[in-house]
Amino acid sequence: MAILSEHVESYLADLRPPRARVMAEMEEFATREGVPIVQWETGRMLAALAGSLDARVLEVGTAIGYSALHMAEALRQGSIVTLERDPGRVAQATDYLRRAGVADRVQIVDGDAKETIPGVEGPFDLLFLDATKGEYRDYLELAEPKLTDRALLVVDNLLMSGEVAGGEGGFWPAETVEAGRAFNEALLRSEHWRGAVLAVGDGVGLASRVI
Ligand SMILES: C[S@@+](CC[C@H](N)C(=O)[O-])C[C@H]1O[C@@H](n2cnc3c(N)ncnc32)[C@H](O)[C@@H]1O
Repeated sequence: MAILSEHVESYLADLRPPRARVMAEMEEFATREGVPIVQWETGRMLAALAGSLDARVLEVGTAIGYSALHMAEALRQGSIVTLERDPGRVAQATDYLRRAGVADRVQIVDGDAKETIPGVEGPFDLLFLDATKGEYRDYLELAEPKLTDRALLVVDNLLMSGEVAGGEGGFWPAETVEAGRAFNEALLRSEHWRGAVLAVGDGVGLASRVI
């Protein structure tokens, strides 16, 4: 279920410009196979942020590399380390990113992020969380020491099809919705982050560090 009304969703979808071949292929594959990827507007927002900072990005949750491709296309000197525990997805992302011509800017780290984050080499200017929703706090705690003082935090699915607000649906498991609510409250009350939950895509948290 979308968080915006149908006519606004459809207006935004019609505004999207044509995508290059590999990105379009990824979207078709994700729709066909039910792979959860960010909505195009979320990808574009990530691209704008990553591009403006020419960021060193840490992404938790690669899937087939769709959000990584959005960001990679916007980078010049910047780079992406992206973490994925499903070896099949790692193989698909590796292939898509190579064919899109951005493999030199993206390192995919295979394994559970809770185990791999401590070993990745920072510092990072942008942290994007998009893996297991109930583990967001763990990823953030583990990644925080690797972030620059001016780092941005971006988090996907914080509105969970509207279900965190008590909306109808039932797509998300109850404990995931509960974890989403707890994460949103902690983010907005945090002394370490200055952020908001935005009605972009499926709800995107955007925050900067309080230094
Ligand atoms: C929503 S998808 C990521 C979508 C991707 N960011 C995009 O928009 O193109 C979440 C991915 O996180 C992976 N994942 C879930 N928990 C993980 C963990 N603890 N460590 C590493 N990857 C994880 C899943 O296998 C899945 O491929």
